Amino acid sequence: MARKKIALIGAGQIGGTLALLAATKELGDVILFDVVDGVPQGKALDLSQSGPVEGFNSTLKGTSEYKDIVGADVVIVTAGVPRKPGMSRDDLLEINLKVMEQVGAGIAKYAPEAFVICITNPLDAMVWALQKFSGLPANRVVGMAGVLDSARFRHFIADELKVSVQDVTAFVLGGHGDTMVPLPRYSTVGGIPLPDIVKMGWMSKEKLEQIIQRTRDGGAEIVGLLKTGSAFYAPAASAIEMAESYLKDKKRILPCAAFLKGEYGVKGTYVGVPVLIGAGGAEKIVEISLSGSEQKAFDKSVAAVNGLVDACKKIAPKLA
Ligand code: LMR
Repeated sequence: MARKKIALIGAGQIGGTLALLAATKELGDVILFDVVDGVPQGKALDLSQSGPVEGFNSTLKGTSEYKDIVGADVVIVTAGVPRKPGMSRDDLLEINLKVMEQVGAGIAKYAPEAFVICITNPLDAMVWALQKFSGLPANRVVGMAGVLDSARFRHFIADELKVSVQDVTAFVLGGHGDTMVPLPRYSTVGGIPLPDIVKMGWMSKEKLEQIIQRTRDGGAEIVGLLKTGSAFYAPAASAIEMAESYLKDKKRILPCAAFLKGEYGVKGTYVGVPVLIGAGGAEKIVEISLSGSEQKAFDKSVAAVNGLVDACKKIAPKLA
């Protein structure tokens, strides 16, 4: 069977971690692209030299030329600028929108058959713009956010209860911003929904509220600690989980930013929802039922995303 080709657009902290994970998991051969000449080449060479130690056979090539991503099966986009302490993800809209235009053109020209995963912030608006700029079908362009936000939620719960993260599931819906919607009703410990964990007295209601807020602030907490950049290990691991589900047709149900065509009462916007990811890309949007307050919180999050999409249309009228 021919090896798959994974193109990583952006060779910063997330790009380098993605390359490491893709290679060690032997998902395919890796092309690491960045406009900053030398960085992708240096990182790819360094990672290649870890191959004999780690024992992986994936090849890695660094490049500053889009033509090298030709025929990629998966493209993961991290290109753009991360926020600094005190900034919101939304502050990056204008600068990263310009980057999405170039990346979209490169994908359209050289990898139009790829499954594209966007990580660049503000996530939901950037994946919307990337799909428009690239012209790829919406079911093959998704955003990585829900897996990351849910992983944070899962970690905080497991850490609090001192249980294995393997036994904790969690769902976070909505946009990847301050309005994201962690859903305790759909989050479980050993199969027991969180509201029941609270009823059993295993976790207090106040603690659960704190964990929910910490999940919403998860990205900012790391930005505040790192000071010169944002999270990269967990975002990279999350995107790789999505890529693997596509490449191996695993049909995982993963929360990610997907294009909605009326599901959840939303049309024409990307927002975080559970999605079945398989060889057909985003094969199915899974519609879970929401209570009144959950729906209200979700609608607020969609409205925030729509505001950012409108801002994109103003900056780049050809997107309208
Ligand atoms: C994250 O959640 O870690 C990323 O969206 C980066 C950020 O700026 O918070």
